[in-house]
Amino acid sequence: MQTILSRKKIEFFLEGGDDSTLFTHANTVKRVNMGMEVYLRAVVEFSNFCCKKCHYCGLRAPNRCLERYRLTPAEILKAVDLAVVKGAATIVLQSGDDYQYSSDDIGALIKRIKARHDVAVTLSLGDREEYEYAYWFKCGADRALIKLETTDLELFRKFRPGENFEERLHRINFLKAIGYEVGSGVIAGFPESSTASACDDILFLSELDLEMIAVGPFIPHPDTPLSVADPTGNLNLSDRINSILRIFNPFANIPATSALDSCAFNGRKLALLRGCNVLMPSVTPDIHRKRYSIYPGKNSVSVDKTDSMVSARKVILSLGLIPSKSKGFSKKTSLCQLRHRVECA
Ligand code: 5AD
Ligand code: SF4
Repeated sequence: MQTILSRKKIEFFLEGGDDSTLFTHANTVKRVNMGMEVYLRAVVEFSNFCCKKCHYCGLRAPNRCLERYRLTPAEILKAVDLAVVKGAATIVLQSGDDYQYSSDDIGALIKRIKARHDVAVTLSLGDREEYEYAYWFKCGADRALIKLETTDLELFRKFRPGENFEERLHRINFLKAIGYEVGSGVIAGFPESSTASACDDILFLSELDLEMIAVGPFIPHPDTPLSVADPTGNLNLSDRINSILRIFNPFANIPATSALDSCAFNGRKLALLRGCNVLMPSVTPDIHRKRYSIYPGKNSVSVDKTDSMVSARKVILSLGLIPSKSKGFSKKTSLCQLRHRVECA
């Protein structure tokens, strides 16, 4: 199969025209470029407060049914320490858009994590100022995630009221420019989206030339305005989008998102055979984990069954793949840095 697909061909695959060819090719591209290792990113969801009102998300500020929590720095560090003992080499600090944590609070946390452990730190904190991200980079943060959720401006405006797409895009480019590895992504089956808009999402994300791309299926949350949206087909669509993204972005780190397991048994497992190369187990303390309820089922799998890091490793091994012990920096970045070094020599 060609590496460059026409728009017509992308839409053909998105509609399930030939899943077997698509998935097999994406898996081959992944193996050739990324090898057999799967990177583990341990996610500490340290606050479920959010000041935003996204119509699709359970953390939205107007949701009064959610019991909110905030972890103290000591609690966050304890979760990080445990994750490192269990083999994590990347820590993702994730929260809703919660401005109760000041720049200094986050900066001090990053410094303390980097002083205690040889890990990469990823920030998934939402819309914060450029000077804050620049400061956190100096404190040692390595990566940042800024999801676009959809690249359809009309849908973005409708379902992310008061938010600005251009600003978010600008933030992505700013973070890249100052040295972060940057990730973005969309929701597969975003309400009122279409095959054409999913195709636009793929082309837009690929054009951004990102180190990380995250796409997971839309799951309606009962306590949001989109509680009755129809999620049928989103799981397959998510896998198709990830497969096409892998073909266009051979060196990107692409997670099999937890939302896949909330949709279907073995959802993440399948995605690891269809182009994805990262798992992001939640290491949030048990008492809070279920409260990070972005969509129904989020985190419930790992709470009810076994330790999330252990189960992630089991998933990887069951596929004959290798749970990586490395920080998993982007192969794209290392290639660029190498080229830069050669050019400067
Ligand atoms: N279904 C799937 N993913 C969702 N997210 C938010 N709400 C949903 C939902 N209902 C994802 C978004 C967001 C992250 C916090 O979770 O991509 O960036
Ligand atoms: Fe907040 Fe992000 Fe959920 Fe929007 S998607 S409500 S910004 S946590």
